[in-house]
Amino acid sequence: MKRLLTGLQSSGTLHIGNYFGALKPFLDTYQNHESFLMVADYHSLTSLKDPALVRASIENVVLDYLAVGVDLDNATIFQQSQVHEHTELAWIFECLVTVPFLMQSHAYKDKVAKGLEANAGLFNYPMLMAADILLYDAEVVPVGEDQRQHIEYAREAANKFNNAYGETFKEPQGMILEGTGVVPGVDGKKMSKSYGNTIPLFGTKEEITKAVLSIVTDSDGDIPTNVYTIHKLFKTEAELAPMYEENKGKYKASKDALIEDIENFVAPMRARRLELAAQKDLIKNVLAQGSEKARAIAQAKMLDVRSKVGITL
Ligand code: TYM
Repeated sequence: MKRLLTGLQSSGTLHIGNYFGALKPFLDTYQNHESFLMVADYHSLTSLKDPALVRASIENVVLDYLAVGVDLDNATIFQQSQVHEHTELAWIFECLVTVPFLMQSHAYKDKVAKGLEANAGLFNYPMLMAADILLYDAEVVPVGEDQRQHIEYAREAANKFNNAYGETFKEPQGMILEGTGVVPGVDGKKMSKSYGNTIPLFGTKEEITKAVLSIVTDSDGDIPTNVYTIHKLFKTEAELAPMYEENKGKYKASKDALIEDIENFVAPMRARRLELAAQKDLIKNVLAQGSEKARAIAQAKMLDVRSKVGITL
């Protein structure tokens, strides 16, 4: 079985873009692979500085993974920072790539374009993500379109290392789905926590309603395009056609139908999440077990890497 790995940064509330861009493709295929789901907590430190928030965000991602239905018999959930080999390998990659190469990163360039100062962690971010993937020889990496460049960086890191020290890493493939690679937010731009345009996946009905009612309704004919694009994630075009035909020009009615469909989809997962959150020590146990399993693989890989680069005496 091929190895599959993906991760969520523990830095905010899961939104429907994360779900349809990364988690849904993961759920559709993880049982046919040896699957790993990572909580990217070291990546979150590039933006979060409040320890209480860092801790809560890690716990939230684990609950999110479990609430969307990940079965622990078929997937390993682990915490990036509990496997020290990630930062170790990232360092080795950083010594192989150049500064101009990392300067091409979209995340870094966006920050600079906004006149903000990027920390060195953000600058090196792609090499940590390359390490996340390559440590496990993961071949399949389900992600949204915004991570395409990071997969390319990982392929390039593998290449650079293999050229310098001999065949060691497999080049990973992104798994970016047509139609859900970029889920738009309420303003029609890519849904993103940093743009404040999200529909929260585990929001209350009130939060979902508020977000949907705020969808900007630039129309294409009689159909509110932004509403329809999001609606297609929850229902097929055939299912939606009669409703949009009947509601031509009546945007509020289409939004109400979307709220109903999101609520029906989310309610069982939200209830499950509440149950899981009440289980004492669940999160700690899941992460301890998963991280132990991940660590065994990462440690074996690093024995080879250390020896190849020459630091094993
Ligand atoms: P993060 O936490 O920003 O996003 C998690 C996943 O959600 C996808 N996504 C979207 N997909 C479609 N439409 C959107 N509007 C949308 N917004 C977010 C992202 O593409 C991503 O797949 N660097 C990663 C986390 C990471 C990782 C890894 C992923 C760290 N190491 C190794 C895979 C493999 C990140 O910040 O994703």
